Amino acid sequence: MTKHFINLDDLSNHDLTQIIKQAIALKKQYKFGEINRTLEHKTLAMIFDKSSTRTRVSFEAGMTQLGGRALFLSDKDIQLGRGEPIIDSAIVISSMVDAIMLRISSHKDIHTFAENSSVPIINALSDESHPCQLLADMMTYQEHNGSIANKTVAWIGDGNNMCHTYMQAAKSFNFKLNIATPQNHQPDQSFIEKYTNHIDLFTDTQKACQAVDLVVTDVWASMGQETEQTKREVVFKDFSVNTALMSKAKPNAVFMHCLPAHRGEEVSANVIDGEQSLVWFEAENRLHVQKALLLYLLN
Ligand code: CP
Ligand code: NVA
Repeated sequence: MTKHFINLDDLSNHDLTQIIKQAIALKKQYKFGEINRTLEHKTLAMIFDKSSTRTRVSFEAGMTQLGGRALFLSDKDIQLGRGEPIIDSAIVISSMVDAIMLRISSHKDIHTFAENSSVPIINALSDESHPCQLLADMMTYQEHNGSIANKTVAWIGDGNNMCHTYMQAAKSFNFKLNIATPQNHQPDQSFIEKYTNHIDLFTDTQKACQAVDLVVTDVWASMGQETEQTKREVVFKDFSVNTALMSKAKPNAVFMHCLPAHRGEEVSANVIDGEQSLVWFEAENRLHVQKALLLYLLN
């Protein structure tokens, strides 16, 4: 059966742990300048209907480093953007490449694509989740502070795609997740119900950050919500991660953000650029962990 990576918890805890272990080994190999051409002659198609820096560069460089190649396909350039059905696109593209990475808005469309694809599909951010980012975040936490099992994580801000994926990670990696959001910006009800044993909901950021091991946030307006930016700046004004909030967490707590970030909005400059911040490590680890993911899906 074709393996896909659409939701983080599609994979067992065992497989997720193995991918991270492999990523750490690949990172070491890459830093030592060792050549690995395991994906020679393999092609990854990368379909984007939204902007990207980290996802595009890490998948493209990752395929090159493994001896394969990646095709960047903007929806503006392929027929999908002109209305060619998802099903037809999936059948055709998957007949020509070895794996397909999708950053398309609709999570439902990613499932439809996968159901009609003969090769592995990777969700590279949908309106619902961002599992590749969580692989990198979990790897980064482990490298810096050891196992995340039985720790407490605070999510501050919007109950968005990243928040949903942290909920899935809480279950898969066995940590407790405190979620602080404005009243009307909680995660989807279906996620709250499904992950209820792993989360606590807050509206008070200080309570949510009390003695936690990791503080995470994300932009107040995600891609596609640009017209709500001004309104959201008012609603989310008390949901900024600053030094006062970080001081509620444990002294060895770390800060994460998937990036891109808005300094002075969801995070202050002295936190994101400060000593507790792991944001550059998270970004770099996208490369290593996605190489491990590609090897997992393709081998
Ligand atoms: N974090 C992340 O996915 O970044 P990009 O939008 O730049 O790919
Ligand atoms: N929540 C953000 C994440 C970007 C990586 C968005 O969807 O725009």
